[in-house]
Amino acid sequence: MNVAGVVAVVTGGASGIGFGIAAALARRGAKVVIADIEAERALVAAERLRDEGLEATGVFLDVIDEASWATLAQVAAGHWDQPVQLLFNNAGVGAPGTVHGVSRQTWDWVFKVNVEGVYLGVRTVAPAMLASGLPCAIINTASEHALGLPDSVTGGISAAYTAAKHAVMGYSLCARRDFEGTNIAVGVICPGPVATDIWNSFRNRHGDFGGPRTLRVEGETPMSQHLPAAAAGERIVAQLQDGAFFIFTNGPNEAAVIDRYQREVTTAIAAFRDRYPD
Ligand SMILES: NC(=O)c1ccc[n+]([C@@H]2O[C@H](COP(=O)([O-])OP(=O)(O)OC[C@H]3O[C@@H](n4cnc5c(N)ncnc54)[C@H](O)[C@@H]3O)[C@@H](O)[C@H]2O)c1
Repeated sequence: MNVAGVVAVVTGGASGIGFGIAAALARRGAKVVIADIEAERALVAAERLRDEGLEATGVFLDVIDEASWATLAQVAAGHWDQPVQLLFNNAGVGAPGTVHGVSRQTWDWVFKVNVEGVYLGVRTVAPAMLASGLPCAIINTASEHALGLPDSVTGGISAAYTAAKHAVMGYSLCARRDFEGTNIAVGVICPGPVATDIWNSFRNRHGDFGGPRTLRVEGETPMSQHLPAAAAGERIVAQLQDGAFFIFTNGPNEAAVIDRYQREVTTAIAAFRDRYPD
């Protein structure tokens, strides 16, 4: 998809991978709406791009709130008086915790933001995209954690996160099927480790789920040694332009996750066929 001149909404665009995507889009001529629960940071991020002579605006969005989505859709379409053609459902939160140790509040919050946030985005934006008849795309951010067996590189990330990202993958596969033959292309981003603020996600935890907290978790590799978010954004937008469905950032990490999964499933199917040959 050619992104020059199109209006693109990037949720969670004030920080990390989202800002990397926003910058890469704007540098290719897109008009970018940086939508984030950190409203002040979204405004500053948009200003940073405008200072480069690019087109961007910052808007408050809480992806779990339907009213907030409705306002965002209006503001995004109204700002340049042009329909939204690109939606990056990128906002997401990470949290530590094992399958039995993760708290109920954390489980619910991670699913709300990471899964329901994506669904609400699609539900809000897709009807206008379909009505516009213009080339459009919806790109959801899952994770390498959605590709099979979770890795230890990102050690602190929880069962809730991995389960939620598998849900985003499942939902994206259905979106591709449901929008087949329409003007909406679908993609799913499966980033490997990228240097962002994700370990500090609890800064944005809603009151209903325990409220904000400062919690820094490090994986086995310090965050600063991972791929810079700007590079991830460039790679992601290049793959969008190629029309890719599966969009990666790092390569070796994602490949290792897929290999482990494929080997285990292939072995399990072979064992099943040995037991039940027909
Ligand atoms: N960093 C990695 O290694 C990595 C790997 C795989 C997937 N991801 C995914 O990439 C996406 C971006 O995360 P990141 O790593 O850049 O982290 P980040 O914390 O730097 O950015 C996340 C952004 O989402 C925003 N946000 C949080 N809750 C929100 C809400 N309710 N509504 C709107 N915005 C909200 C935050 O304010 C922030 O700007 C997430 O979906 C994350 O799960 C990251």
